Amino acid sequence: MEAADISADLTEVLYTKAQIEERLTELARQIEDDYAGKELLLVGVLNGALMVMADLSRELKRHCEMDWMAISSYGSGTQSSGVVRILKDLSTELQGRHVLVVEDIVDTGLTLAYLLQNLKSRNPASLNVMTMFRKPESMRSPVEVAYVGFDLPNEFVVGYGLDYAGRYRNLADVGILDPAIYA
Ligand code: PRP
Repeated sequence: MEAADISADLTEVLYTKAQIEERLTELARQIEDDYAGKELLLVGVLNGALMVMADLSRELKRHCEMDWMAISSYGSGTQSSGVVRILKDLSTELQGRHVLVVEDIVDTGLTLAYLLQNLKSRNPASLNVMTMFRKPESMRSPVEVAYVGFDLPNEFVVGYGLDYAGRYRNLADVGILDPAIYA
């Protein structure tokens, strides 16, 4: 669905489907250059990264492998605790591989900080991160992200993989959720 289909649920559209596609194309060209001559393994973090993995991988004009991790933050509340439980691990050995972690959003950075530490211990040849969105104002753990699609304001944002209560992931645009929806 597109923002126009659920316009009553959003207070603002931040990035349209077309803008996201354009930015992903730029990032794909950069990644092709940076990984020229190297085998590339994309690691998607479920569930949110589903959209960006599908679009980025198809935009790459080269071979890549894909694998997935499912993780869950310990603790209650809506804020990330930074203590992460692996629900589904990779099927691929990372030893000697060039690994690019693909995320939908880096918010506090706590999930990614844990994940990178975990993946690093598996001795990949290289380990980098691509995220479609980042919220610089809510960053609590300074993680290095090589490729960033767009920075977002510190608002409740949905679409392109980002959900509220399981919904809105299939919104092709990205927008600010009307607070009346979650009040
Ligand atoms: C999101 C996102 C990141 C994490 C970022 O996942 O995909 O993994 O939150 O948050 P942080 O930087 O504050 O740690 P979420 O736990 O919402 O699960 P989902 O991908 O299934 O929506």
